[in-house]
Amino acid sequence: MIAPVTGFSKKTKKEKIDWLLSTYLQNDTEALATLKKYWNSDTALQQLHDDFIENTISNYYLPLGVAPNFKINDRLYTLPMVIEESSVVAAASNAAKFWLERGGFKAKVIGTEKNGQIHLNFFGKETLLKHFFEAVKPKLIASIEAIQTNMKRRGGGLLDIVLKNSSEKLSGYYQLHCTFETLDAMGANFINSCLEEIARTFETEATTFKSFSETEKPEVVLSILSNYVPECLVRAEVSCQVSQLDTKDFDGKTFAAKFVRAVNIAKAEPRRAVTHNKGIMNGIDAVILATGNDFRAVEAGVHAYAAKDGTYTSLTHASVKDDVFTFSIEIPLALGTVGGLTSLHPMVKFAFNLLQSPNAKQLMEITAVAGLAQNFAAIRSLVTTGIQKGHMKMHLMNILNQLQTTSEEKQKAVQYFKDHPISHSSVLTFVESMRN
Ligand code: MEV
Repeated sequence: MIAPVTGFSKKTKKEKIDWLLSTYLQNDTEALATLKKYWNSDTALQQLHDDFIENTISNYYLPLGVAPNFKINDRLYTLPMVIEESSVVAAASNAAKFWLERGGFKAKVIGTEKNGQIHLNFFGKETLLKHFFEAVKPKLIASIEAIQTNMKRRGGGLLDIVLKNSSEKLSGYYQLHCTFETLDAMGANFINSCLEEIARTFETEATTFKSFSETEKPEVVLSILSNYVPECLVRAEVSCQVSQLDTKDFDGKTFAAKFVRAVNIAKAEPRRAVTHNKGIMNGIDAVILATGNDFRAVEAGVHAYAAKDGTYTSLTHASVKDDVFTFSIEIPLALGTVGGLTSLHPMVKFAFNLLQSPNAKQLMEITAVAGLAQNFAAIRSLVTTGIQKGHMKMHLMNILNQLQTTSEEKQKAVQYFKDHPISHSSVLTFVESMRN
């Protein structure tokens, strides 16, 4: 029986590892060697990473790939992409090249408003709460003056506070719905600090507001930003003449019709929409990770947006009108190019330099394009050759690496599998036959 550990967070890194090894890993020296292999020999850099989170014992690498030739609003970008899945970067690069020759991507930020709520209990008369709120609203705003100073100087800050009656959804449930402009910051810390201060002021003022009886004072349940940001929205699009879509497998017209049908299937069927949107997130998450943004926040917000009309549906839209094929995406993205990891993580700094130091709006546009490109590549494969052909080619390398093949063995295998079906067992058999 394993006993619970006490004071774990106070232990040194070595003590933590010793405890893990002796408790779960039979003091396996190989496990220790693996952890150590991933430590950075630059102790300052290692310390930086140790300090990002708690109880750090080693680093966990993901590959950073790049996808060149993205023409976005007439500017050429090479996208940094952090992802473990093979084919994603190749697919992005192919889509970028395809659209480079057809005018590139157009992207536009529709809005940048973020929001957060102070969730309240109030079981008294609504008119009383409304009256109180209107009376204290200037004090609520004044209470965050110090927190807002810098943000306001740069042109951002709190936009408004609105009292919302949500008691039809849940008895006694009201909200102070607060909206913010956070400019180039994702703004989570700023918004949460503002909300907690407003909530404190609201409760303090409520205690001295005479019209509330002792039993009907509003009470703060919790205050937090929302990761649902439908007012922080970006749109990206590609379009061309249908005749420009000719491929070796299809003429443009057939391809466009199949493509539009595939998107419409994702619009109609949530089971397909989830996978369709997952493909979009392959591109989006990869750029979000490379630029040190919060992919969990983006994932949650994007999927909620996909279900905003009551049914989960496709985030992309495709149409053919007057012989013009148009393919677009509209998604909420709360991203930052300052604050958080952006100035701390050397690889994130590299990614921003590679992207020519975008501001948050430009990063929203670039990221939306990554999602659109990824979806284009996936659907193009799905309605033509299927995805396995390209996928397995990339997968072959992973299998060969797993089997610790030499570069000579790799070359032979790549040659052989050009015209043989790739599966884990077929590669294993081939490698074994080479070695025998
Ligand atoms: C795989 O990671 C993504 C796809 O399944 C997306 C899709 O089906 O559209 C290929």
